[in-house]
Amino acid sequence: MSESPLIIALDYPSLDAALCMADQLDPARCRLKVGKELYTRSGPAVLEALHGRGFEVFLDLKFHDIPNTVAGAVQAAAEQGVWMVNVHASGGRKMMEAAAERLEKNGLATHLIAVTVLTSLQDSDLQEVGLSDNLAGQVERLARLTQQSGLQGVVCSAQEAAHLKTVCGDRFLKVTPGIRPSFAAVNDQQRIMTPNEAMQAGSTHLVIGRPVTQAVDPMEALAAIEAELA
Ligand code: C5P
Repeated sequence: MSESPLIIALDYPSLDAALCMADQLDPARCRLKVGKELYTRSGPAVLEALHGRGFEVFLDLKFHDIPNTVAGAVQAAAEQGVWMVNVHASGGRKMMEAAAERLEKNGLATHLIAVTVLTSLQDSDLQEVGLSDNLAGQVERLARLTQQSGLQGVVCSAQEAAHLKTVCGDRFLKVTPGIRPSFAAVNDQQRIMTPNEAMQAGSTHLVIGRPVTQAVDPMEALAAIEAELA
């Protein structure tokens, strides 16, 4: 259990590599994110192994399908004990409501959040798939829809967090990747913020990968991020 806002992304192609990193981290000081590559390779075994080590897990599979299918997938994730799971808000109100209702009906406390617009997309990409609104407008529209559908929050960039705080309130979760501590390399991230800037902007949780996982001493990197936040 951790009250920290830090979620470390375990972006590894094997269970062994992921656990090797997890074993260098402290479940009292961070949560872990498992994404599509690791989960597709390792399956539920990775969740069991991380839970067994005391970590809370964000299962980042971004479900997007018909309501019944997504509700079943979200239920399956929750029954494996994950702390957080996500869907694509563009799957629509009925899909999100079905997923939220399924958790509630089964007394499952897993946090359910949604991706609004992938940050890899630009205005021109939205137009190409037939969306006439600009990016900021589409993010706001889908964040509102997410909240109305009974979900607890969104994945968003730190740049979007401040506005979404005024639109959806403080308690609506804003889980933010694209974070670079002042000591870290930028890598391939485009628009970055430091942990402190992102929290000031209204993020409630920070997803951080390589600045910790590629550090010579991951716990030292984690401690340096905690110090930046203090
Ligand atoms: O290593 P890094 O800190 O860039 O990792 C960030 C994590 O957040 C990765 O798992 C990446 O897939 C994810 N992510 C992101 N940007 C988004 C959404 C997710 O970097 N817009």
